[in-house]
This record gives sequence, structure tokens and C-alpha cells, in this order.
Amino acid sequence: MLREQEMPLSGAAMSKALGISRSAIWKHITSLRREGYLIEAKPARGYRLVAVPQYPTQWEIQADLGTEQFGKNIYVLPQVDSTNVVAFRLALKGAQEGAVVFAESQTKGKGRLGRRWESPVGSNIYLSIILKPKIPPSKIPLITLMAAVACAEAVEEVAGLLPTIKWPNDLLIEGKKLGGILTEADMEMDVINFVVLGIGINCNMTRTSFPPSIKDTATSLQEVLGREISRLPLIQAILRHLEQWYTILVQGRGGEIRRRWKELSQIKGKGVAVTFMGAVIKGTALDIDDDGALLVQEAGGGVKRIVAGDVHVRG
Ligand code: BTN
Repeated sequence: MLREQEMPLSGAAMSKALGISRSAIWKHITSLRREGYLIEAKPARGYRLVAVPQYPTQWEIQADLGTEQFGKNIYVLPQVDSTNVVAFRLALKGAQEGAVVFAESQTKGKGRLGRRWESPVGSNIYLSIILKPKIPPSKIPLITLMAAVACAEAVEEVAGLLPTIKWPNDLLIEGKKLGGILTEADMEMDVINFVVLGIGINCNMTRTSFPPSIKDTATSLQEVLGREISRLPLIQAILRHLEQWYTILVQGRGGEIRRRWKELSQIKGKGVAVTFMGAVIKGTALDIDDDGALLVQEAGGGVKRIVAGDVHVRG
């Protein structure tokens, strides 16, 4: 209500419109102020919103979000070990599909293959979303592919740059890593209980803030665009695109996801070297199969089906 109204809004008017007491209104105003909202209170006139916080709050993300389910429950936290760990715990306690955990920083951000994900405070997007797809566990890699497609499209919508995708889910700009996706699942033999989809996008990290280990291989939107970008519209666009592509996935239209992924990855026909647990497979990337595995044709003609690993595109 405060956002929509430029003139001061009286406590009495708000209490009437919302059907709650004036002391309840006061409590909400106090908690908004604690969150960083600057709200002016003038005796006999009412409350006026003067400024919103610099970081994305739950209310800012949810305002004009435009999704059905994704982000309807959202937990915004200043610091966590890993948003995936927090989301996993919430899911075990019965959190709904589409619940989101967003953090300003992570102390133990997790990357793929047991790596660490750099998660400095306030500059990037670290979010995890709980999904409960009714699909067989063998289709989980497809969730990762659909998330990469959704994130690439969200980046294009907000920043005007379309990242390419490196199998299975790295988002690259100018050949450097802009973001990544970590999919973790809780499942039994043939049933998925839930999936936690963790998304990290480097937004406002600057050259000097990249640690030496990723300095040559990582980038951020700020670095490419030459200006700071606001994380809020990007978070909202990610949730919207994710919901659209997830709907396509659960409707069994995996072919559309693979088609779009292939357009964005441009990997077909390229020479690749895939490393996994010390072994290297070299060959030509042929395709991805129905379950999202990468098919690589080796020099001898045999085709290897690859479900995990690091891809290096040659030449
Ligand atoms: C990768 O290695 O490419 C995957 C990186 C995934 C990072 C995100 S940040 C939010 C979520 N929480 C984590 O601990 N990891 C994922």
C-alpha cells in the first residue's frame, strides 16, 4: 500500500483496508523499518515510503513477480552456509514446491563436483528453489538443462546479453563463467521426493574481487556491461522463466527443452574433452539424449554417454 501511494497514508486507513488493528499496522511498519525501508511518519497525516533497501527483500521480490507458484514462499537471509543446504532442510520439513531461499552471502557455497562456489556478500545472486516433479529419477539431468535455459533467457531479458551454455549447466559470456547450477535431489529407488535447484549468478563482482583461483575463468555482468546491475529484476526474471520451463518439463515436453538448450549451447559437432574422476574422454559432441546425457563420439567411432564431468571445448 505504501508503495502505491505517494501521499502519506494514515494508520487508520491502512487498518481499515487490511482489517487489522492499528497496533498491528505499527508492528508491521516497525519490522519494515528493521528490514531497511525508510518510512516517514507524520502526526495526523500518516506514513510515507521514502526509500526501499538496496538489497532485494522478500517484499521487493514478490511485488509484481508474476508467477503462479515460484517464489510465493520466499526466505531472504543475510548469511547462510549454502542456500541449497537451507532449502534441503526446509523441504525435509515439508516446504512447498516453488519455495525459494535467497541469501546475501554464503559461507560454504557449493559448486558442482564438490567444488566451492565463491559467494561474497551483497554482490551476486545465490538462490535455491524446491521442486517436486513427478518424473522418474533418470530425468533429473533434464531439470538442470531446463534451469540453464531459463537462467540464460532471464539474463538476456534483464541485461540484454544472451549467455551460451556449456554442458551441462555453466552459463558463459565471452567464454568465461557467469553462473552455474547445482541440482541436488532427495529420492528413493524410483521416486523423487524433492529436488533443490541452486543457482549462482555473478552480478556485481569486480575484477579485483575475484579470488586468484577463478580470476582467469570467471566473469560477472558488471564486468561485461561496465556498470552495476540491479539484482532484483534478474531474480524475478529467473523465477518467471524457471516456472515457464518447469511447466514444459512436467508436461513431458522434454524435446522442447533439449531443442532450446542445443540452440544456446552450440556444442554439436565441436571437439570436446570431458574429464571425470581423473579419466579424460576425447571426441566430437554429437548430441544430448532424452535424459540430458552428453553423447560423445570417440576417434575410434564408439559413442560414449556422459552423465557427469567437466567439458572442455577444443578449438
Ligand atoms: C557450479 O559449480 O557451476 C554450480 C554452482 C552453483 C552455485 C549455487 S549458489 C546458490 C546455490 N547454493 C549453493 O551452495 N550452490 C548453489
